[in-house]
Amino acid sequence: MRNEELHAWVKKVAEHTKPDAVRWCDGTPLEARALEDRMVASGELVRLNERFPHSFLHRTDPMDGEDGNRVSVICTKYEDDAGPTNEWMSPEDAERTVWPRYDGIMRGRTMYVVPYLLGPAHSSHGRIGVQITDSAYVAASLGIMTRVGQLAIRQLGPNPHFVKGLHSVGDLSPHRRFVFHFPQTKTIWSLGSEYATNAILSKECHALRLASAEACEEGWMAEHMTVFGLTSPSGVTRYIAAAFPNGCGKTNLAMLTPGLPGWKVETIGDDICWMHVGDDGRLWALNPLAGFFGVAPGTNPKTHRNVLAAMARHVLFTNTALRADGSPWWEGLEPVPNGETLIDWRGKAWTSKNSSPAAHPNARFAVSARRCPTVGPSFDAPNGVPISAILFGGRRSKLVPLVFETHDWAHGVYTGATLVSETPIAENGSGGMPSNDPMAMLPFCGINMGEYFRHWLRIGERLTRPPRIFQVNWFRTDDEGKLLWPGFGENIRVLEWILERVEGRGHAIETPLGRIPTRTDLNLAGLDMSPDRFEELMDVEPRAWLDEALRNEPFLHQFGPRWPERLEQEHRAFIARLRSA
Ligand code: GTP
Ligand code: MN
Ligand code: MN
Repeated sequence: MRNEELHAWVKKVAEHTKPDAVRWCDGTPLEARALEDRMVASGELVRLNERFPHSFLHRTDPMDGEDGNRVSVICTKYEDDAGPTNEWMSPEDAERTVWPRYDGIMRGRTMYVVPYLLGPAHSSHGRIGVQITDSAYVAASLGIMTRVGQLAIRQLGPNPHFVKGLHSVGDLSPHRRFVFHFPQTKTIWSLGSEYATNAILSKECHALRLASAEACEEGWMAEHMTVFGLTSPSGVTRYIAAAFPNGCGKTNLAMLTPGLPGWKVETIGDDICWMHVGDDGRLWALNPLAGFFGVAPGTNPKTHRNVLAAMARHVLFTNTALRADGSPWWEGLEPVPNGETLIDWRGKAWTSKNSSPAAHPNARFAVSARRCPTVGPSFDAPNGVPISAILFGGRRSKLVPLVFETHDWAHGVYTGATLVSETPIAENGSGGMPSNDPMAMLPFCGINMGEYFRHWLRIGERLTRPPRIFQVNWFRTDDEGKLLWPGFGENIRVLEWILERVEGRGHAIETPLGRIPTRTDLNLAGLDMSPDRFEELMDVEPRAWLDEALRNEPFLHQFGPRWPERLEQEHRAFIARLRSA
């Protein structure tokens, strides 16, 4: 069954961009090997040594290192539909200024047509996209990160409604770099970058920005959340979804190695989930992606057994350093022998005397989910998994306790809407400033965020068995700037309490913020956690929270009439609780 819309679009793009050749990708292993061989021959990929079978390193042009959040534009008829937190342009203006820039841009290059499915096979929640790209690296990445090929073509059939992504590397000039999103015509135009999110359009561009618009219209959710299952020592499995901003621990949490005996982890997704209200009144989550795209620096064999195991073979590394023996290296992996010269992510010689890091701080590994030892059969469940708890979190060196439970769905939505996180320290030492990032979706929300908050409230009205909502913070520090909580595998101790709360068993005490555990409510056995330290970790300081709440007001009120009355009530009630504390 030929899809006329698809063929007409591919023809139109090819005539305009004028590539030397057009290739349709089928997602087979054979095709992946051929793509890899071509890129090794052209120098685009470095083949790693035999300890990393079928694994490769790609280096982004140093001019192209930043991510697309700043170059992202939402093109809707009315500016108000994009909202105050998105860049906006009218579709007509975008078409007039941007389309001509694709004229002849693929001359001398091969144009890849990559049909992909987001979501499990044979799921009514699956969505189809087709990305056109002149980057073999992007085509190969899509093959890892999504379900590419016949599956997608067959599921689409003659249906003209699919997401059309058009990407060209262009000349990589930062001044001509953009990613335009057209929710109304389900189109994405990206130019001038080969870097992660800017170029692999199935991820943030499709599965979050366009999907969040579609989800709001159709009554489901597209969220920047990791999803994982925990099986307790007594054999009960429950699923948790967690929204943390970029670089705040989603992938780590999804693949955690529990620091308590008897617990088992199952990874469903590490970055994005789509959630639907089930017939049973619960919220069900699935991973639209088929691969994991994790941050390499900081990953080491001691604390990241599962992550490293996932990296054993068939991995596409981006912007790590390279050792002389042909293995990848990054800061936080085992130390390299003194005096060994590496090649850094820029392609330059590097020794430990260099002041800049060898791997890009955002160096990544892309690997198919089925390579990960913690992925189980639920990964392909057509309806996903039922969610018992939603966590919001971020980096807060001060103020936010290790964990608190919100009172109900609306209070949880308010807590998500007022999420503030410190940006991880960037390569140039900047960052660290707290900023608003509601539901960790600020860079990825394709609609007016005021409307997005309303949508969360509407979903809550349909849930008869809603997940409980919590906030967590693994990053609180003492006066000397040292982390108060060990994090990583030890986070299981917090998750255990969260699941006890879900089951109605766990004990908690009230604070103006919500409910928190006491020192005896958490299993802290084997941890160095004095009463004073625990006090510091859990402290809720009403004065400081009042400052925070008032500081949030300009952010919340910028949505004007779209800021929901129900959340304003939560805000007022929170301030009243703080004032009387
Ligand atoms: P994106 O993929 O960009 O959305 O980021 P992410 O949320 O998946 O973050 P990731 O799991 O890759 O972690 C990013 C950084 O946070 C790494 O440097 C980790 O070492 C650090 N990190 C993750 N979990 C913890 C934790 O529990 N405690 C501490 N202290 N650091 C953590
Ligand atoms: Mn992310
Ligand atoms: Mn991640």
